[in-house]
Amino acid sequence: SLPVENVQELASKKLTALPPRYIQSEIKTDGEVCVKDSLQIPAIDMSKLVAGTGSDEHQTEMLKLHQACKDWGFFQLTNHGATTAVENMKTATKEFFQLPLEEKMVYAQLPGGLEGYGQSFVVSEDQKLDWCDMFYVCPIPVSTRNMKFWPKNPASFRSSLEEFSHEMQKTCISLMEFTATNLGVKFKEFASMYVECTQAIRMNYYPPCAQPEKAMGITPHSDGTLFTLLVQVNEVEGLQVRKDGKWVPIKPLPGDIIVNVGDSMEIITNGEYKSIEHRAVVNSEKERLSIAAFHNPSVEAKIGPLSDLVKENGAKYKTVKFEDYIKQFLGRKPDGKSMVDTVK
Ligand code: SIN
Ligand code: FE2
Repeated sequence: SLPVENVQELASKKLTALPPRYIQSEIKTDGEVCVKDSLQIPAIDMSKLVAGTGSDEHQTEMLKLHQACKDWGFFQLTNHGATTAVENMKTATKEFFQLPLEEKMVYAQLPGGLEGYGQSFVVSEDQKLDWCDMFYVCPIPVSTRNMKFWPKNPASFRSSLEEFSHEMQKTCISLMEFTATNLGVKFKEFASMYVECTQAIRMNYYPPCAQPEKAMGITPHSDGTLFTLLVQVNEVEGLQVRKDGKWVPIKPLPGDIIVNVGDSMEIITNGEYKSIEHRAVVNSEKERLSIAAFHNPSVEAKIGPLSDLVKENGAKYKTVKFEDYIKQFLGRKPDGKSMVDTVK
């Protein structure tokens, strides 16, 4: 990883033209269509999933969840029961990014490391840079928490992060359990894929950008996760999902949690659920913030198609150690969805 300039500082210089490394000419000239109006992704009501398993309401919602994972790979979770934790985390995140640079730099990433305050991995000198600063921590497993990256300022940050981490993990595990039922797979085998589930949290700060049409907040990618739980901190639009070859802007949904299927889930479901490419665009007017909670299998886990799902068509993906998988994932060039292809 190579040192990269702080984007919030760069933006504060009010340059009229971007430094060349932020100009992603190829992305806007490759003929890709971007849908004009933002779209609502399927909405799943968590309270109906949790309600009595025998009820019609529960059955209907389970089916909606299954379809959303198959057709979209993205959905919006309503009535998730984690509102206090989400709101407190949003406040803590806003307050952290508002701190003066030197106070944020107390928690700066170390050379070659991802945890802390900084930017996403840069693997080569010619790699284009994202118009985004981030704060990245790995709260789970608790035993390997690196507390020096847990800000003491703002004062409520640590307790907000702790609570948010816990609530997101709980929500993710519930979704995994509903998913096991939906797929009709042996629970024990499915659970072995996530029982030691790890969690990383990435808070994103996208400053206003002088030439938003030439830059990218986060370049197109798919997540390596089982599920990612994503919170839109403010009302500013920016997330786009690739649907039927077009980029579709997603409405910001500050009270809800956006959930997306990651590559690990695509692999274990033998492709029944899709890990969809997405990106974050920027704008010239307003800063934008988001918080992603990534839920991954444990590093020792072997991920591969579940035995119940390979009977008809055989395994479409190889079984790989998650550790080897994630190494490749972090070392790859950021050029869209490629990771699931490497295990086909
Ligand atoms: C992402 O994590 O891929 C994008 C997050 C966002 O909506 O800013
Ligand atoms: Fe993502």
